[in-house]
Amino acid sequence: MSHRLLTAVFAALALAGCAKPPANPPPAQPASQAATPASTPGEELQARAAALFKPLPAEMASEQHPSTEARVALGRMLYFDTRLSKNQAISCNTCHDLARYGVDGAPTSAGHKGQRGARNSPTVYNAALHIAQFWDGRAADVEAQAKGPVLNPVEMALPDAAGVVKVLKSIPGYSPAFQAAFPGEADPVTFDNAAAAIGAFERRLVTPSPFDRYLAGDANALTAEQRAGLATFMDTGCTTCHNGVGIGGGMYQKFGLVKPFDTQDTGRAEVTGSDADRFMFKVPSLRNITETAPYFHDGKVATLDEAIRLMAEHQLGRTLTDTQVGEIHAFLGSLKGEIPAAYIVRPALPESGRDTPKADQG
Ligand code: HEC
Ligand code: HEC
Repeated sequence: MSHRLLTAVFAALALAGCAKPPANPPPAQPASQAATPASTPGEELQARAAALFKPLPAEMASEQHPSTEARVALGRMLYFDTRLSKNQAISCNTCHDLARYGVDGAPTSAGHKGQRGARNSPTVYNAALHIAQFWDGRAADVEAQAKGPVLNPVEMALPDAAGVVKVLKSIPGYSPAFQAAFPGEADPVTFDNAAAAIGAFERRLVTPSPFDRYLAGDANALTAEQRAGLATFMDTGCTTCHNGVGIGGGMYQKFGLVKPFDTQDTGRAEVTGSDADRFMFKVPSLRNITETAPYFHDGKVATLDEAIRLMAEHQLGRTLTDTQVGEIHAFLGSLKGEIPAAYIVRPALPESGRDTPKADQG
């Protein structure tokens, strides 16, 4: 970085009213403040970003789990159907509200009888891209994941797979929908097929954002502050873990890599039984992160600025200045995508039949 650039950065920091000098070297690519010809550093920043991140695909298709219109339509109904819960008051959408960026905004979620698990509800948007599902990666994909909450006693609390099938078969409108979604199957109304349909629906929950337009070549899709934040995000080392198409979601890492975090949750060690996996968690995607507070697996951190600061300290051993935190926050704002409004409209659900179980509060 040229001396002139450095001076410009420090001048900008001083102007921003930053009393103490930054503890870390300033970002190497302050695209916004650059007094040099605009295109060069801008193009360089874009090229660096293109090497680390990838734009979102139009849908998160899977060869193993083909997504057809009939499957998606069935999956959408099941996603919103509270009859898949014991008290018939809870659906996937209760904890992953699609109109609220796929979260409920609570540190931990209230499920059956108001019981709470120990973890924060992550968003379902773009989740199908992750290497695995859940904070600890215990489900391989969204299809496998969808079976978890329905039978989880503190979530939807149905007794077992047979109990789910009983509910589905008691609702006359579901049989033709399953037949259309799984053509050629003699007995398509199964728990596995219900989960596969929900997965098919989730595979189209993508939220393309300004950052995707930036990666596709439109340098002006990001504001000057967002571009400065992108540089800071990369220079600080956040991209060691938060990279790729999800800006996260692609690997497991230790929570508290450099400095331990105060948590009882040992993460992936509970799945693998291996001591080496203690406090390992899936690196979360940062897409829509400005919309999905509170933060971390236990939802204990209320603000994004605090989450950014803690990440730098505990994962990288670095102390960020207020300016750097603000820039990174601005950059993360460019990951806020568009909610597919028409796609997520709550569908009309088939009516209950005579044998459909009644709500059970017990
Ligand atoms: C009572 C609240 C609640 C309900 C109802 C619920 N979930 Fe979740 N969901 C959670 C929580 C909490 C987690 C994280 C748990 C963990 O990682 O151990 C989670 C995790 C997920 C994930 C993983 C995302 C990721 O990034 O790893 C997906 C996908 C998901 N849920 C989809 C669904 C679907 C589909 C349904 C309906 C069949 C559903 N959830 C019902 C609370 C809920
Ligand atoms: C060594 C890997 C690593 C590095 C480096 C890293 N992170 Fe993280 N990040 C993680 C992991 C793992 C989690 C999940 C922590 C947990 O269990 O809650 C996480 C969580 C987060 C969250 C909360 C996500 C959510 O949905 O609640 C934010 C925000 C975040 N990181 C931002 C950053 C920023 C900004 C940087 C750079 C200053 C950074 N991270 C550096 C691994 C990393």
